[in-house]
Amino acid sequence: MAGVSIPSETSTDDTVSGAAVGALRPDAAGRTMPEFPEPPPLAEHGPARIIAMCNQKGGVGKTTSTINLGAALAEYGRRVLVVDFDPQGAASVGLGVNPHELDRTIYNLLMERHADIRETIVTTGVEGLDLLPANIDLSAAEVQLVGEVARESVLSRVLRPVTDDYDVILVDCQPSLGLLTVNALTAAHGVVIPLECEFFALRGVALLVETVEKVRDRLNPRLEIDGILATMYDSRTLHSREVVARVHEAFGDRLLHTIIGRTVKFPDASVAAEPITAYAPNHPGAAAYRQLARELVARGDAA
Ligand SMILES: Nc1ncnc2c1ncn2[C@@H]1O[C@H](COP(=O)(O)OP(=O)(O)O)[C@@H](O)[C@H]1O
Ligand SMILES: [Mg+2]
Repeated sequence: MAGVSIPSETSTDDTVSGAAVGALRPDAAGRTMPEFPEPPPLAEHGPARIIAMCNQKGGVGKTTSTINLGAALAEYGRRVLVVDFDPQGAASVGLGVNPHELDRTIYNLLMERHADIRETIVTTGVEGLDLLPANIDLSAAEVQLVGEVARESVLSRVLRPVTDDYDVILVDCQPSLGLLTVNALTAAHGVVIPLECEFFALRGVALLVETVEKVRDRLNPRLEIDGILATMYDSRTLHSREVVARVHEAFGDRLLHTIIGRTVKFPDASVAAEPITAYAPNHPGAAAYRQLARELVARGDAA
């Protein structure tokens, strides 16, 4: 409808709803949307800031956000490593790697002290974006690590040799708060919590925040919550807006300004095994993840 004055109501396209976040003034929570400047080029790379993409609920956009944030940061000249830390291997598949054909994955690095991470990392179709792949083998690690010394810091040890090679390392967590996720939180500097804009989204977030605080107290004092990322936002529904308002009420400025609209372009891109920034570079969904990259850089949460 032409002339609608509510800024988040700009889209009438069925496949794009609320995804034109770059154009939202104010943001979906009613705050002023700042300008996030283009990140300046980096003269040199590393050491990486490690961000765990975490929510024990499945299907909230962790993997999609990991892949597309990673690709957007790489577009801005950042060197990015995506760590697939889910036995489903969705981040690997989404980046065009069939992890079930690989005989070396993150599982080997966790379990074999002398396995070489540089021989396990693979390049992707996105320049500047590398992948540490995972497959179903990883599901055994959870059990096998229980008896290890310092079992919570195994991922941290695994990543150490390459942290100077990257600007950002994104860890795509599995949907649980088990030992693998605790390993991700122990290795990380920050946590981004993707949250689907639906009614029960907030359920479980308190438990996640509690887990983050426990890990900070006991294992990793530098750990902070970088932000909550509202995903699958549909500006046509009052419901989406209510969820964002509730999240803002509960978490204040931890709610990132950038929201990710609901669009079939994301599942389409994962079928094509490409980030949306490559699959549909001009789509508002690609713009949203570029904005997320700029917002995190502007907040100091990414290089
Ligand atoms: N913004 C979005 N709009 C529409 N579909 C999405 C969006 N983000 C993710 N999806 C789809 O929802 C499903 C779950 O997303 P995914 O990123 O795999 O979640 P998680 O890793 O938290 O389980 C996938 O099929 C994905 O393509
Ligand atoms: Mg996932």
